[in-house]
Amino acid sequence: MTGRRRGPALPDFPWDSLADHAAKARTHPGGVVDLSIGTPVDPVSSLIQTALTSVADQPGYPTTHGTPELREAAVASMARRYGIDGLDPTAVLPTMGSKELVGWLPTLLGLGAGDVVAIPALSYPTYEVGALLAGATVVRLRDDEPPPPGTALVWLNSPSNPTGRVLSAAAMAAAVGAARDVGAVVASDECYLALSWDAAPVSVLDPAVHGGSLDGLLAVHSLSKSSSLAGYRAGFVAGDPGLVSGLLELRKHAGMIVPRPVQAAMTAALSDDAHVTAQRHRYATRRALLLPALLAAGFTVDHSEAGLYLWATRGEDAWETVGRLAERGILAAPGTFYGPGGDRHVRIALTASDERIAAAVERLG
Ligand SMILES: Cc1ncc(COP(=O)(O)O)c(C=O)c1O
Repeated sequence: MTGRRRGPALPDFPWDSLADHAAKARTHPGGVVDLSIGTPVDPVSSLIQTALTSVADQPGYPTTHGTPELREAAVASMARRYGIDGLDPTAVLPTMGSKELVGWLPTLLGLGAGDVVAIPALSYPTYEVGALLAGATVVRLRDDEPPPPGTALVWLNSPSNPTGRVLSAAAMAAAVGAARDVGAVVASDECYLALSWDAAPVSVLDPAVHGGSLDGLLAVHSLSKSSSLAGYRAGFVAGDPGLVSGLLELRKHAGMIVPRPVQAAMTAALSDDAHVTAQRHRYATRRALLLPALLAAGFTVDHSEAGLYLWATRGEDAWETVGRLAERGILAAPGTFYGPGGDRHVRIALTASDERIAAAVERLG
């Protein structure tokens, strides 16, 4: 093998470019405080671990659609946690975390050259990657900007990664209406929906958003953040029954199946809200320490009303801020990872242990 790869040109993997700053931060005598990635650090609830191992001795293939119990648990959780009633369990499909779905959705929807995928101006890098993998064209939309004609897929993400911005139900409804005007599917990435602080995010499956019809709508959910299950790879997509059944058909053919133990773990996680509340509380506590420390250190924190990040700026180039923080042993992600408009912000994650957050607060002081 020569290592040459056919296919679309993809951007460099953003985090690779942080290596020098990471090396610098690691030289701090108190060790690095890595706030550059949103990876959970807290224990997996024992009820989820028990469910995982309870089906460890099942040698047969799992179903791509997931067990009926899993899909019922997803429907019930959407009703309990977000007030979404009447979701059809057949229109729920488990995924191996949500990143693979984000990366492959344009391809699974049959998009290709000539199709436009609209993404938020500042957004999770995989929306762009997914469009490029399909050979589609990416358009970054400013806040409230409608998608152009020819758009086949619109990504929404409230609460947003990286900004923590929350769209009101009216703003979500307007975005859905604008997408429908050009005949685009709307995929709403809702992986931070359970983690809100100063605003109340809504699902695209809320009637106040969709106006009574799920046509063309997909809600993309992840258990990585709300249940600290990033290591399990656990997510699901739900919404328009026709779209979900199309995804199911393709995923059956392609072997995109959530392992049976993870299906059992997801069923337990979606049936219990206490561990989600406890996790939310941990992040709220860390945010209550880190946010004032950043403000006192001269940062301005924009949006950040929900989700796992503080979108902070010192009014200087993002890389300069990353460098300053690295000197104090703190690693943050430059806003440029999320789009050109992020060049004066850094994204600071709340996903570190209490001890590491306390270290960051002390170093900022
Ligand atoms: C906006 C957004 N979507 C999707 C994901 C993917 O999460 P996972 O694949 O763990 O479900 C992330 C992870 O950070 C994210 O920030």
